Amino acid sequence: DASDIEKGTYPHFMLKEIDEQPFVIRNIVQKYRNDDGSVRLDDSIRQAMSAADRVYIIAAGTSYHAGLVGKQLIEKIAQKPVEVHIASEFLYNMPLLSENPLFIFISQSGETADLRGVLVEVKEQGYPTLTITNVPGSTLSREADFTLHTYAGPEIAVASTKAYTAQMAVLTLLAVNTASARGIELDFDPIQELGIVASAMETLCDQKEELEQIARDYLATTPNCFFIGRAADYFVCLEGSLKLKEISYIQAEGFAGGELKHGTIALIEDGTPVIAIATQSHVNLSIRGNVKEVAARGANTCIISMEGLEQEGDSLVLPKVHEYLTSLTTVIPLQLISYYAALHRDCDVDKPRNLAKSVTVE
Ligand code: G6P
Repeated sequence: DASDIEKGTYPHFMLKEIDEQPFVIRNIVQKYRNDDGSVRLDDSIRQAMSAADRVYIIAAGTSYHAGLVGKQLIEKIAQKPVEVHIASEFLYNMPLLSENPLFIFISQSGETADLRGVLVEVKEQGYPTLTITNVPGSTLSREADFTLHTYAGPEIAVASTKAYTAQMAVLTLLAVNTASARGIELDFDPIQELGIVASAMETLCDQKEELEQIARDYLATTPNCFFIGRAADYFVCLEGSLKLKEISYIQAEGFAGGELKHGTIALIEDGTPVIAIATQSHVNLSIRGNVKEVAARGANTCIISMEGLEQEGDSLVLPKVHEYLTSLTTVIPLQLISYYAALHRDCDVDKPRNLAKSVTVE
């Protein structure tokens, strides 16, 4: 049938979409790049970002996790304050807004009802709105003032992969463009750094055997799993745990490394898998301290680190990428580990139980 043709030689859409990520990043760079190497965005978006005194990112699920990374990118690169909110909570528990807010809706499908509820409400209040989506003709795209296209191509697997990394790449370019509008000089070349990210992604996509082995060693029979990380790595832990839950039905939790000891460490038993991410130099020692804490209580620990920060015994060392962009590469092994865990546990990878690709009801 048609879906078999689209999958090509891949057994699942999810695996195909994971492998497409390096191409997607290069494609985004090409779409938003000027000949002189600067970032091209509509002037209207540039102006809206400049005029806002605070950005409110609204999203759900995996797109919310991209939003958490987006906050850091916009705050660090463009020095503009950002809040990130879960769409379904925002509507009924609205924070005190700044004087000139800009609302950014991040949505793969552009159809999520929880986001639309917020969009309608803030438009009614007269605030400017921007949708970042993979489907430019979608409801959220049509109804917002501005749209940024993530150019990831159709994402078929219910569990989002390439849409997430595409969202983070576009958020990077939005941050860079905003910085230039504000006259902020960057000490790195974002276009070049995203190219390095794409190559690193390729390297990681070629490490399927190692990642399948990690899935087998840590996740074949376990009822639960923890992901721990600090700073930017924490946000990827949230996404990694969501991926694992969605497709393998393993109860998984993403935790800030330093927070585990304040209660949840009580759940660590002999053999509990704890996957730690260590790609941030300023917290490398402290996250490794957290790994020791759980190991001392019997956890089966797996450390994913990055070149320059690695230590003996790490399970996987990622190629070095710019410190702002680590989330784009760190998530690849987590996606693949989830994929192989789901396969080993005989789960329906592309169509997990109880889930829909796009949720158009509140
Ligand atoms: C659904 C999907 C998730 C997705 C979320 C947000 O729950 O199962 O994978 O992250 O909706 O979707 P959106 O299209 O708005 O990004």
